[in-house]
Amino acid sequence: MNEKSIKNADTYYRLAEQKAARYYKSLHEQVIQRAYVPTLTKDIQSWKHNHIHHHSLLSFFSRGKGKATPREYDNYIQWLDFTGKLDNYLDRSISYIFMRDLGKSLDSPRTQTRVRRVVDHLKNYLTQSAKTEGNKIETFSMVGLYRIAQKEGIESTVIWLINKLKTVSSNIPKEMDAEQAQRKLIKIIAGVIMHEMEEKNDEISAEERRQKLDEAIRLGYSYGLTYPFIDDLLDAKILSVKEEKQYSDLIRKTLITGFVPELGEWTGDNKELIRFIHSELRDAFEYIKTHQRQETRAKFSEQSYVFFNSQEIDRGKNLSNENYTNEELYIPIILKSSSSRLIVRSVINAAEDEGFENRTFFYGIYNQLADDFADMFDDMKNGAVTPYTYYIKYHDKRPDLINPFELYWSVISNLIHNVYHSDKKACEVILNRAINGLKRFKEKLGIKKYNEMMQLFACGNPGFDSLVQSMVQKADDVDFFDKLLRDHMITVLKNERIERKEFLNTLETVRVQINNILDISEVDHIPLMKAPIIDAANYSLKGHGKRLRPILTWVMGVNEYGLESAAIVPLLKSLEYMHTASLILDDLPSQDNASIRRGRPTLHQVYNISTAELTALFLTQKAVEEQASLDQFNSKTVLNLIQYSTQITKDMCKGQAMDLDSKGKQLTLEQLNLMCFYKTGIAFEASLIMPAILANVCELEIEALKKFSYHAGIAFQIKDDLLDVEGNLYLLGKPVGKDAENNNSTFVSTLGQEDARKAMWEHYCFAMEALQEVPRNTTFLKHLLNYNLNRDH
Ligand code: IPE
Ligand code: IPE
Ligand code: MG
Ligand code: MG
Ligand code: MG
Repeated sequence: MNEKSIKNADTYYRLAEQKAARYYKSLHEQVIQRAYVPTLTKDIQSWKHNHIHHHSLLSFFSRGKGKATPREYDNYIQWLDFTGKLDNYLDRSISYIFMRDLGKSLDSPRTQTRVRRVVDHLKNYLTQSAKTEGNKIETFSMVGLYRIAQKEGIESTVIWLINKLKTVSSNIPKEMDAEQAQRKLIKIIAGVIMHEMEEKNDEISAEERRQKLDEAIRLGYSYGLTYPFIDDLLDAKILSVKEEKQYSDLIRKTLITGFVPELGEWTGDNKELIRFIHSELRDAFEYIKTHQRQETRAKFSEQSYVFFNSQEIDRGKNLSNENYTNEELYIPIILKSSSSRLIVRSVINAAEDEGFENRTFFYGIYNQLADDFADMFDDMKNGAVTPYTYYIKYHDKRPDLINPFELYWSVISNLIHNVYHSDKKACEVILNRAINGLKRFKEKLGIKKYNEMMQLFACGNPGFDSLVQSMVQKADDVDFFDKLLRDHMITVLKNERIERKEFLNTLETVRVQINNILDISEVDHIPLMKAPIIDAANYSLKGHGKRLRPILTWVMGVNEYGLESAAIVPLLKSLEYMHTASLILDDLPSQDNASIRRGRPTLHQVYNISTAELTALFLTQKAVEEQASLDQFNSKTVLNLIQYSTQITKDMCKGQAMDLDSKGKQLTLEQLNLMCFYKTGIAFEASLIMPAILANVCELEIEALKKFSYHAGIAFQIKDDLLDVEGNLYLLGKPVGKDAENNNSTFVSTLGQEDARKAMWEHYCFAMEALQEVPRNTTFLKHLLNYNLNRDH
């Protein structure tokens, strides 16, 4: 690091500190004089007219206590709509976001118009999706997100983002909360998008809008990454002391010099993690840098440095040290909370805006104090120093310590009257938020503990204290959409994680069972003559196949249709035999001419072509034999099943013939879909329909299952086509580049990788939507679709 840049950074930090010290001093004075008491008493007295209601019967239906389930989120929105409260609710929520995240003041006419517009859009969106009959698609699902991406023309960006979020969440160390990390990252990205959208003028062209959105998402991700991987990681105390020092130095050096240094030698348990973070942060930093104008670059580095350094100072505090001064406690907080928001604006390259900087600077600590208040017990448990934990611990010994709750009210009073010039709307929104924070805290803690805390943090003015408490008890309409969304998002993400784990578990256990039943034994052993065909069949069956088709049949058949698992064993076998036969044929020199399958040499290589051909024929016949032995079912039903099954085999032959005939030809999208459905989709269909036939499922359900399999099957083949280009022989267990070598007509050769990926997502969405019509528990099917998007083999 060169001396000059270190000096610059230090100077800048000192200046920032001085500014924060002035702010702190003015707040301190207000606390000492209790100047906020008369001011806020008056504000609350007039505020309460809109919030104290006599309880109507309807309020009994409002959200109960406890954790929100995903359905509760929808119900709550519907309830708000039904009682005519939705508009107000969204208005205060969006207004708040405009103040907090965008640094706006609510008395500007432009801001008012913008808030109105956002509220209208959101209201429309929320009430429309709630009204769609039988709509089970999660509002914040990947399908929902992708459909929005399509409307905006930013599919590739959103696919990129979804993959990034997945990688991040899978790299979050287990000591950290992956859902919170994801949520925070999403929140930062949303903030940057909003900020970027607010900067643009209204006559922007669709193409410009597309570009801006793309940039905002990538910038948001790049900046947002620093939250889980710098701040949270260091907070979580995962790194050893030595690693932590090395990591902090790396970040500091980056911020001071503007270049990410090489990782260099790393000794420590977290080498892999740090390597991943280093490479991800380097890309992110580069992206931000190359999208920055010269003017914002300096500001960005300065603010980032202030952000990082103030956090480091804050983090370095120890709860057992009883000598911190008020200034030492509060100044780093003022700095970190304001710089984090100021950075967003320099990230997006917005024009200078003094009003924004000023407001944001004063605003930060308000938010920080509200958050620290809500988290005080967790922080206490973790031994973290915050104004609240420190006050709880030392208020007896240290009469000079300022009461953080009083400081909080001073900040509020200062914001309303000095920063927002006594604007009524600002006052309304901030007081809503403050009372809501207390209500939530009370709900979380229970009355007893809550009262204890309120006693401890009492302001020393009984009139003011009891006014606040009576508002906490009686005031209505103070809740916020962003809080609901936050709870909802965590619930959804956590549910998803649990479901995914269960899904993978099922996949694994059922696969093991299926592997155990596939072996074909030599019952009709002919003495004196070897029967290589059975060995050959077993050779093909033994490779590392995913067994997706019989697994699907087992899960639906046993879990959903209640079939006896022992009774459907022949069906499970038959499906894998048919599929394996199709692979043997597909690999022949006359077809795809492949030398490796399921991680081992192909059958015709190990034996010879004619044995391979005969084995494929043998396996398809073996499949029919198995089906004909489904003796626990009505024979008419079994005949139906066999009839259906032979139709499937014929269709697969047609599909494969189309595929071979398409070499070197330019297919239309329709032809591609048809070919992929026949060669691949139809086998997935069979895996779902055959158990349904055995369970005598109604025609309507069969139709829904067919629609699902059509799209799921094509999505599966597109992924296969993509893996042929992007995959890896060792993971795949089959050669890559075969399609290009054979001049095959695939989704990738026709559309290119990017558009093929979009087509895969489109089919994914259709398949997910089709699931809504399947009157069963479709969690497994949903996760199977997700699995396909992400698989590497
Ligand atoms: C490969 O199917 C052939 C296609 C339909 C693309 P799988 O990917 O299911 O192959 P295995 O059974 O796991 O080997
Ligand atoms: C094969 O498609 C479809 C069937 C075998 C039925 P591919 O030719 O793309 O399958 P892989 O990639 O060889 O597994
Ligand atoms: Mg093929
Ligand atoms: Mg092939
Ligand atoms: Mg392929």
